[in-house]
Amino acid sequence: MKKIIAPSLLSCDFANLQSEIEMLNESDADWLHLDIMDGVFVPNITFGMPIISFINKHAKKTLDVHLMIVQPERYITSFKEAGADILTVHYEACTHLHRTIQEIKAKGMKAGVSLNPHTPVSVLEEIIGNLDLVLIMSVNPGFGGQSFIENTYKKVKQLKKLINNSGSTALIEVDGGVSNKNIEKLSQAGVDAFVTGSYIFSSDSPKQTITDLKNQLLSRK
Ligand code: DX5
Ligand code: ZN
Repeated sequence: MKKIIAPSLLSCDFANLQSEIEMLNESDADWLHLDIMDGVFVPNITFGMPIISFINKHAKKTLDVHLMIVQPERYITSFKEAGADILTVHYEACTHLHRTIQEIKAKGMKAGVSLNPHTPVSVLEEIIGNLDLVLIMSVNPGFGGQSFIENTYKKVKQLKKLINNSGSTALIEVDGGVSNKNIEKLSQAGVDAFVTGSYIFSSDSPKQTITDLKNQLLSRK
């Protein structure tokens, strides 16, 4: 299984967004991870449809859109029109999760569900067969640059077991505090896709850092 690097644009230089996207187009990044926050589900506000549309115009990679918003079902069509390829909603924000997942897929996007650090993997037992992706939060959502929560390894292993036992094809993605220090151990636990924000964008050469992370994953399958 190919391992995926998904830089989070939350930590990029928004004043130079076009050149950041061009750098990512040229890089070994697989997806671009876009964090949408509404100031209600999480204590922070980021950006919405106009910025996603702009990114979509320039980006040559899959747009992996992570919704940290309440009632995300209100905006499924808008996110599709803005250019989302993968749309991930939070388990904690969806009363009718099954319906929401069906609607995301009906619009032609891949459907993901994200779990906060306190939410057990077992809540996905009845829906895992319908999912394309599960995003395990390895920090509390809301901000970049936080410390990785060690309990994540256990949750990834539990999720891997659930996926294997159910015959689901869902990918496992991890988001928050991912760096060269933990990416190999996460990969061994079963993670397919790695979101990294501050680690990449605070480095001297984000493009090289992405390549280095990729190589680290290749050297220890
Ligand atoms: C946090 C966001 C993350 C964030 C990760 O709520 O979902 O995608 O950008 O940033 P780092 O890699 O800095 O923890
Ligand atoms: Zn995210």
